[in-house]
Amino acid sequence: MGTALGSLVKMILVTSLAVFGFGGCTGSPGNNEPAPAPSAETTEAEAGTVNGNVNDDSDSKTLVIYFSATGTTRGIAEKIASATGADLYEIVPKEPYSDEDLNYNNNDSRATKEQDDKTARPEFEDITVDIEKDYSTVFIGYPIWWGEEPRIMDTFVESYNFEGKTIIPFCTSGSSDISASSRNLEAKAGTGNWLSGSRFSASTSAEEIKTWIAGLGLN
Ligand SMILES: Cc1cc2nc3c(=O)[nH]c(=O)nc-3n(C[C@H](O)[C@H](O)[C@H](O)COP(=O)(O)O)c2cc1C
Repeated sequence: MGTALGSLVKMILVTSLAVFGFGGCTGSPGNNEPAPAPSAETTEAEAGTVNGNVNDDSDSKTLVIYFSATGTTRGIAEKIASATGADLYEIVPKEPYSDEDLNYNNNDSRATKEQDDKTARPEFEDITVDIEKDYSTVFIGYPIWWGEEPRIMDTFVESYNFEGKTIIPFCTSGSSDISASSRNLEAKAGTGNWLSGSRFSASTSAEEIKTWIAGLGLN
């Protein structure tokens, strides 16, 4: 967003974010770690799996796949996987995001520069579940960055053919809604039956997630 219009949009975003707050984006150094292996404490999603440890006993055809820089989206993803019995998988950036990378007050921070460049396609580590073959329903989660999906999510949706699948985007944010990002992702994917999706806050409860899922009309 190098233009005057871009600066104006950014100024409005900064102002509204200053009012509403970004919520959980003040990370600490440990926040960028990949999802831990499931344990009694960590996973409400015991019916599912984390990063490729596929539970062969499960006949789940649903995948919850997400990117989370500071852990908020991960928490929501775990609740969705728990409610649906889905497999759970974290998209891990090849180059992890440091706190400084995520500094939205700095115009030169990595995240801000990536969001300014609609052609940026940050890479992710190999995904070891077979999305195209094994899943008919895919929840796709991410944080909102500058009103949109992080560019790594563009890399992700452009890497797969979602034909014949039901796709449900979800996001977390300080206050911004999901609409611009879900529109972008659906267009960039070019395939799949995309439902309208939903935005959650860090404090969304498991009950609220269950109610949302029940209303989606999934089989
Ligand atoms: C670079 C950056 C830009 C952000 N831009 C927005 C924004 O435009 N609107 C908003 O409501 N929140 C914004 N946030 C806040 C995050 O969307 C929010 O903290 C989110 O829940 C973080 O999810 P995560 O912990 O899974 O990474 C931004 C955060 C970062 C780091």
